[in-house]
Amino acid sequence: MLMERKIPLLRPYFDDDELAEVKKALDSGWVAQGPKTKEFEQGAAEKLGVEHCVAVSNCTAALHLALLSVGVGPGDEVLVGDYTYPATGHSALFCGAEPVFIDVDSGTYNMDPALMKEAITDKTKAIIPIHTFGQIAEMDPIMKIAKDHNLPVIEDAACAFGASYKGTMAGAIGDIGCFSLHARKGITTGEGGLVSTHSKDLADSIRKKTVFGISSAWDREKQDEINIPIFDELGYNYKMSDITAAVGVAQLRKVEKIIARKRELAAYWNSKLEDIEGITAPYEDENKTHIYQSYITLVDEGINRNKLIFELSQRGVQCQIGTYASHIQPVYGNKYECPVSLDIFNRALALPMFYLLNESDIDFAADVVEKTLRDFS
Ligand SMILES: Cc1ncc(COP(=O)(O)O)c(C=O)c1O
Repeated sequence: MLMERKIPLLRPYFDDDELAEVKKALDSGWVAQGPKTKEFEQGAAEKLGVEHCVAVSNCTAALHLALLSVGVGPGDEVLVGDYTYPATGHSALFCGAEPVFIDVDSGTYNMDPALMKEAITDKTKAIIPIHTFGQIAEMDPIMKIAKDHNLPVIEDAACAFGASYKGTMAGAIGDIGCFSLHARKGITTGEGGLVSTHSKDLADSIRKKTVFGISSAWDREKQDEINIPIFDELGYNYKMSDITAAVGVAQLRKVEKIIARKRELAAYWNSKLEDIEGITAPYEDENKTHIYQSYITLVDEGINRNKLIFELSQRGVQCQIGTYASHIQPVYGNKYECPVSLDIFNRALALPMFYLLNESDIDFAADVVEKTLRDFS
């Protein structure tokens, strides 16, 4: 029987290593936050080249705690790149602050540093550049502006574990880095997040806030006297469990392999798209190692992108939009104009990209894309 071919947008990559690590956690009897989480944090810190990592429940929690730890509160403003998943803007709202959306560069889709200065006011308390789809933002000019105005930089590196900028890893450039380990990210624990920082003070403050404002049960367990916790500040339950961390420990061992293969696949996609009219391959800045969390193309103006997504999926190639133009989301009150972000929001098309994809899948998918675009014109 002839099977109809279907290429998914993505699939996570796990093998026996994840199962073995999860089994160790289960067998140990300690499945809440404990030694596996510590092992994961240390492994991640080594990979990123930072002193401290704090594992959390997801990147949204990481962003929330990062903002709190640098003192963002009610009435403050936070500069946020506009083209992002609304978790970024929401994290400012969680603190009672206002996200001030900055339009993005039309090539990288990252926050445009040229637009930042005019957006800074007396109320600005932090800057969140986003490393969109795994390509790091223009960190040199962003860090300079931040320094000139004495503002902390929180990297939204949700999509960028393992990406680098002039040799420095995402999450090791600003004051704090926030990563997602959600199923769609380069390495994943299903749901999960991570904070990175060089600062012990920031790490300690964030860690305490992940556990209701006290020290973790595992840290208390190791002490040789009974310490009844005192709740002296407001904290949250943003912990990662050791079962989740066990998957993370195994995923960390694969990260370089996954990135190298996805970069090869991206180059192959690029070569295929060169000959297809109506669609442009993603731009890669030579100063950055793009990790292709997603492979995001742009379709020409006039092409109905939403209809195209539907049609491609019908023909066996699962696609998606890129991400969101934050400023048009009603929850933020429609206060800003970001025309570049809006244009990308309307025209971006995510094509299949994941470690287990192969060249033959891309041949098939590219053929479907070409024929479908021809039918659209
Ligand atoms: C840029 C960006 N920031 C933050 C998040 C939130 O991540 P999480 O789902 O781990 O909370 C996402 C998720 O897609 C994202 O893409």
